[in-house]
Amino acid sequence: MKNKYLYIQTFGCQMNVHDSEQMAALLAPGGYKVTDNVKLADLILLNTCSIREKAAQKVYSELGRLGKFKEQNPDLIIGVGGCLAQHLGAKFYKRIGHLDFVFGTHNIHRLPEIITSLQSKREKITKVDFYKTLNSIGIYAPPANGAVNAFVTIIQGCNNFCAYCVVPYLRGPEMSRPADDIIEEVKKLTDQGIKEVTLLGQNVNSYGKNLKNGLNFTGLIRKIGEIAGLERIRFTTSHPRDLSEELINCFAEERKLCEHIHLPVQSGSNRVLKLMNRGYTVDEYMEKIDHLRRVCPQISITSDIIVGFPGETERDYQETIDMMEKIRFDSAFSFKYSERKGTAAEKLAGKIDECERQQRLKYLQELQNKHMQERNAELIGSCQELLVEGRSKNSENDLMGRTRSWKIVNFKGELDSVGKLLNVTITKAYLHSLRGKLLEEAGNVN
Ligand code: SAH
Ligand code: SF4
Ligand code: F3S
Repeated sequence: MKNKYLYIQTFGCQMNVHDSEQMAALLAPGGYKVTDNVKLADLILLNTCSIREKAAQKVYSELGRLGKFKEQNPDLIIGVGGCLAQHLGAKFYKRIGHLDFVFGTHNIHRLPEIITSLQSKREKITKVDFYKTLNSIGIYAPPANGAVNAFVTIIQGCNNFCAYCVVPYLRGPEMSRPADDIIEEVKKLTDQGIKEVTLLGQNVNSYGKNLKNGLNFTGLIRKIGEIAGLERIRFTTSHPRDLSEELINCFAEERKLCEHIHLPVQSGSNRVLKLMNRGYTVDEYMEKIDHLRRVCPQISITSDIIVGFPGETERDYQETIDMMEKIRFDSAFSFKYSERKGTAAEKLAGKIDECERQQRLKYLQELQNKHMQERNAELIGSCQELLVEGRSKNSENDLMGRTRSWKIVNFKGELDSVGKLLNVTITKAYLHSLRGKLLEEAGNVN
C-alpha cells in the first residue's frame, strides 16, 4: 500500500488531544502516516474547539492559511472535526469553501468510511448526528514510541449546563464507559510500556451514574490501581459539586493516585456562582479544599477561573481575588468571559466591557503567577519522585520528568532512564518548572 500522509492539528482541551490520537489510529490501517510537515499532506484534519470566541477564530484563520495548499494540490482532502464542527455542521462550508468534510464529536468512528467515500467521489460530506452509543470514545490508540503516559476516556458528554458553557450542546449527554472496557484498555496500554494514565471526561466524578450495578469513580480508580506495571493514575476534570468524601479519602489510600487535582472554581462570589449554575458555594468549595489538604498535605490544587461574567461587580471580582489569596492555587487557567450562542448566559443582563474584563484578568493573572512562584519555591530542598518523560525542552543535555503533583522538573540524567521512576532533590524553582538533582533510582514498586 502506498503511504499517504495525514497532517492533524488539534485545538482545545485534553479531550480533543486524545480524540486526535484516536483519529490517527483509525486512519492508520488505510495507509495514513502522521506527518508534521503540512506540505506532504494528502489529508489535513483540524480537530476544533468552540469554548471561547478566540478558540473559534484561531480555527478559521488556520483554515484560511491552509487553503493555499489545496490550490497547489487539488487531490488534497481537508476536513474538520471536534466541537466547532459539531456546532456549525454544514454551515462551515459557507465560511470555508475549500472544506471537503465536517464530522462532529459523535462521529469520529466514521472517519475511515468518510475518507473512502471522498476518494471515489468528491462530494461534501457532513456527519454531525448524536448517538446514544459510545462509538466515538474508547477507540484504541497505540502509544507513540517511547511514550510513558496515555489518556483514557471514561465518560462522554456533560449534563451540567453551566450558564456560560457550550460543551453540553456539543458533546451531548453524559454517558459512562463500562468499567471492563476501560480496564482492558489500561492493561493493553500498560503491556505496551505505559506507566501513567490520565482518566478523561468533562466531569469524571459523575462516572458510573448511568451504569446499573457498576463501579463509581472511586471504585474505578481502585480497580485500575490493581493493574500490575501501571505506576500512576491521574484524572481530569472534576466538578467541585460532585467531589465526594470517598474520592477525597482515596488520595490518601490509593498509592497510585497522584497528588494533584484540577478543580475548576470559576468564581469566588456566591452570587456569580449561582448565576453560573455551578451548584456549590464558595464555603463548600473551601471546605473541600481543606479536606483535601488535611488527608493529603502534599496535594497540588489547580483551577479554572472566569472573569467578567455578566453582572460580575467589582465586589464579586474582589471576592474571587480574596478566595485566591486564601487558597493559593498551584496553578490556574483564567479566562475573560466569552459570550457563546445558545447558552443561558447569553441572555443575562450586565455584560462587562472588554477593557474592564481585560483589566480584571491582568491583575488576577499577576496574582496567580506570584502564588505559582511561591508554591514552587516551597518545594526547594524537598525530595520528589519523578516519572521521566524524555529530553528537556530547554536543553539537549537535560531530561524532563513530572512530580506526582504534576510539576515539571528538569535535571541531568541518562536517556535510558526515560519511563523510570527516579528521586530528585529540588534545587531551584521557576514559574513553570523546577530544577532537580538526581538522588537514586526509586526502584520498581511492582
Ligand atoms: N468540564 C470542565 C471544563 C471545560 S472548559 C469543567 O467543568 O471544569 C474549560 C474551562 O473553560 C472552564 O473551566 C471555564 O473556566 C472556561 N470556559 C468555558 N466556557 C467559557 C466561556 N464561555 N468564556 C470563558 N471561559 C469559559
Ligand atoms: Fe462546561 Fe460546566 Fe460541563 Fe464543565 S461542567 S463542560 S464548564 S457545562
Ligand atoms: Fe473545546 Fe470542545 Fe474541549 S469546546 S474545550 S474542544 S470539549
